[in-house]
Amino acid sequence: MLHIIKKILINFFLFFSLFLISNSKDISIVIHGGAGWFASMTEEEIDGIEKALSKAAGLGYEIMLEGGTSLDAVEKAIIILEDNPLFNAGRGSVYTSELIQEMDASIMDGSDLNAGAVASITNVKNPIKLARYVLEETDHVMFSSNGAERLAIEAGIETVSPSYFYSEEKLQRAKNKINTNSKKGTVGVVALDAYGNIAAGTSTGGMTNKTPGRIGDSPIIGAGTWAENGVCGVSGTGHGEYFIRLNVAKEICVLMKYKNLEVKKAAQLVIDRLKSMGADGGVIVLDNKGTPAMIFNTPAMARAYKNSTDYTFVRIYKDH
Ligand code: GLY
Repeated sequence: MLHIIKKILINFFLFFSLFLISNSKDISIVIHGGAGWFASMTEEEIDGIEKALSKAAGLGYEIMLEGGTSLDAVEKAIIILEDNPLFNAGRGSVYTSELIQEMDASIMDGSDLNAGAVASITNVKNPIKLARYVLEETDHVMFSSNGAERLAIEAGIETVSPSYFYSEEKLQRAKNKINTNSKKGTVGVVALDAYGNIAAGTSTGGMTNKTPGRIGDSPIIGAGTWAENGVCGVSGTGHGEYFIRLNVAKEICVLMKYKNLEVKKAAQLVIDRLKSMGADGGVIVLDNKGTPAMIFNTPAMARAYKNSTDYTFVRIYKDH
């Protein structure tokens, strides 16, 4: 008899948990695939970007719907984009002036403000995995270059040869020193899970032709990435030096937290300030209810959003 009651109780709690999760109004995920000028891309490439954003949003959303955390959703969605050569992150990273690829990434857990970041790594297949490892398994926040790569090997995180990242088109751009201003293709994800936890992550190959050792905003907590439960989560894309100087991601959350600005207003203010300094870029933001802002001062920003209405919003251009 006791056994049957126990079984009924367990089933009830299981059912109740699933009911709570599947009826949560607050699960949301917002994604960017870089801000800039996408006019030189073919229709096929644009289509590929939109499909990848939609796939990443869908996967992150499903993870949270099944009870996974926002941190899981952010990491797994970013891996999809890092594995896709259409983006400037992971496999599609751009080349430095010395024709190598140096990648940066970070991830932040809004529940306790813990964070992990890696910079100037050359052989890690998925930099975001290593950033998460730093967050969860070390007492530190940021590792760079050789030390970060050694950590990846110790952690059993997959490393690859430079040929994995090879792209003739991106190599020629760096060799010919063209498009040095192109920042498009950085990827980022912000997610709010059914437990109210916000997480954010960003991954990039940085800027074409950057000087070796240059590190942008993407791995800098507060500049390219920020997450704080009850307030907001942010991932940025654009001219990293300015994002660092303005502390863009944290600035948006500070405006929301202490000035009570709503998410779109806070993001717009900071992106306008960025413009007034002569810098290009954009941000994706979620507030604590899962309301998104996707704000940019460039002609386009690849972006997607999905919430409990099961509608996936995917756009690249402002009016497209
Ligand atoms: N926002 C990417 C970078 O500047 O490296």
